[in-house]
Amino acid sequence: MATLLHLDSALYPEGSASRDVTAAFRREWESQHPDGTVIYRDLAAEPLPHLDLRGAIAGFSDPAVHTPEQAAAYALRDQLATELEQADALLIGAPMYNLTISSTLKAWLEQALIMGRTGGDNPSAAGTPAVVVASRGGSYAPGTPRDGLDFVVPYLEKVLTVGMGLEVEFIVPELTLAHADPAMAHLVDLAEASRTKALEDSVAKAKALAARFA
Ligand SMILES: Cc1cc2nc3c(=O)[nH]c(=O)nc-3n(C[C@H](O)[C@H](O)[C@H](O)COP(=O)(O)O)c2cc1C
Repeated sequence: MATLLHLDSALYPEGSASRDVTAAFRREWESQHPDGTVIYRDLAAEPLPHLDLRGAIAGFSDPAVHTPEQAAAYALRDQLATELEQADALLIGAPMYNLTISSTLKAWLEQALIMGRTGGDNPSAAGTPAVVVASRGGSYAPGTPRDGLDFVVPYLEKVLTVGMGLEVEFIVPELTLAHADPAMAHLVDLAEASRTKALEDSVAKAKALAARFA
């Protein structure tokens, strides 16, 4: 039975482009795998703790020699790594905040990426497909004034592929602030087109990926 690991990290529970697009993916996935498992984490509603010194040291040492504090910190890392290892596919909602990813998603990465296990030369989840929904209020597309200022897609592409060995694809709903910001009123049509395309791409990717694990 297929397992999907679904992470959302948008601050707003409603009116969130990344949540809407990950939900569309998940609906399609679940329609093909009604008896499958979806492991869901809402990293904004229930943030993970930052990786602390005990957890960091524990990640680099043999569990047999962990102190009780290190063992407690490592238990969470182990659980998150296990969830990733169990997943046939990973789905991530990654809104842009201050040009980069949410701190809650960064906390998941730091906890779940354990060198010598989920990270390093032979990562345990290597080859797992990952779909990232990278929503943003503006546009950072080539030729736009903000071209080169996107530190979401380039960062996640590197950390998820080079760092964790995943196969990553992106869906980018952009210009989401066009409806709310009068200065962006002329971009509303482009924003709508981007949202429509993101939802369509999400369903198409879910259909294709779900079929791989039939
Ligand atoms: C704290 C914060 C910082 C933001 N920083 C940026 C930014 O640097 N660039 C941008 O294009 N949009 C920025 N936005 C707008 C969000 O990217 C936009 O609302 C996006 O749609 C949020 O994702 P969601 O729709 O999936 O919830 C920011 C929003 C918040 C709340």
